Amino acid sequence: MIEQEDSATRIERLKNRPLILELDGLGKQFGPDLTILKDISLGIYRREFLTVIGPSGCGKSTLARILAGLETITSGEARIGDEPIIGPGPDRGMVFQKYTLFPWLTVKQNVMFGLTAQGATKGQAEGEAREWIEVIGLTKFSDHYPHQLSGGMQQRVAIARSLATRPKVLLMDEPFGALDAQTRLRMQQHLIEIWQNIDVTVVFITHDLDEAIYLADRILVLKPNPGEIQALIDVPLPRPRLPEHLQTTEFKSLKEELGELIHSHDQVEEDEPLHIFRMTKVDDDV
Ligand SMILES: Nc1ncnc2c1ncn2[C@@H]1O[C@H](COP(=O)(O)OP(=O)(O)OP(=O)(O)O)[C@@H](O)[C@H]1O
Ligand SMILES: [Mg+2]
Repeated sequence: MIEQEDSATRIERLKNRPLILELDGLGKQFGPDLTILKDISLGIYRREFLTVIGPSGCGKSTLARILAGLETITSGEARIGDEPIIGPGPDRGMVFQKYTLFPWLTVKQNVMFGLTAQGATKGQAEGEAREWIEVIGLTKFSDHYPHQLSGGMQQRVAIARSLATRPKVLLMDEPFGALDAQTRLRMQQHLIEIWQNIDVTVVFITHDLDEAIYLADRILVLKPNPGEIQALIDVPLPRPRLPEHLQTTEFKSLKEELGELIHSHDQVEEDEPLHIFRMTKVDDDV
């Protein structure tokens, strides 16, 4: 038997929290004729886990970069707390798909980086880094360099590095996209555990519908050309999430619904024929 809090009650509790991120008619154009995001209005609650899905090119990464303050907004507004987002800030951490650790720094030095940049003494930064490295289970690897770690380990360090400076919001753009399925599942469970124990709101972009459902309180579905909100869906699954939940009817029907929403925009394009030359002997067919 799975110990369950009624998921409707949990979602209601979430929606009684204050908003931490507010997007108000947000739009993004690259040049006069290229509208990428259009009229995105959405409030994200404190300590919510929001996943974002949508077809390739619909503007998910652009949205993450806007929230990180790495990309400008062309209409509307995005606010964190009550402050408009106009550039990067310590209140937001970011983890990308590509491993972005500093290769010339050890695990410990990578995690210390943001702390010392924010003015922590070396001693303070070392103490905090040690704790974070323990949280991600890499104490034995503190003095290793990124190239000596697996992809999953590197992403754990990237998460620790982002969280060490205590951001209010963690922005993750397909952070587990390059990992194998088993590592990915472990990383998802690990991330949920960390998230449940600290005061951070997660905006997590993914292509993977299982991942989007498994992690989220709510799922934001974007549609392409231009990127607009197609749906915002409460995930009707209890927490703690367990791998068994992937087998439930609720999970399967939500996955089907999301698949339909995303594929409703598939454009049927005629593929160009491949021009392949025969490079084996005649009669040597496979
Ligand atoms: N700096 C830029 N200048 C012009 N166009 C851009 C720029 N950055 C992104 N785009 C365009 O914006 C659109 C959305 O890109 P974005 O990377 O946000 O999509 P995405 O949803 O993250 O896609 P994917 O799922 O493949 O990662 C794409 O068509 C892309 O070519
Ligand atoms: Mg992207």
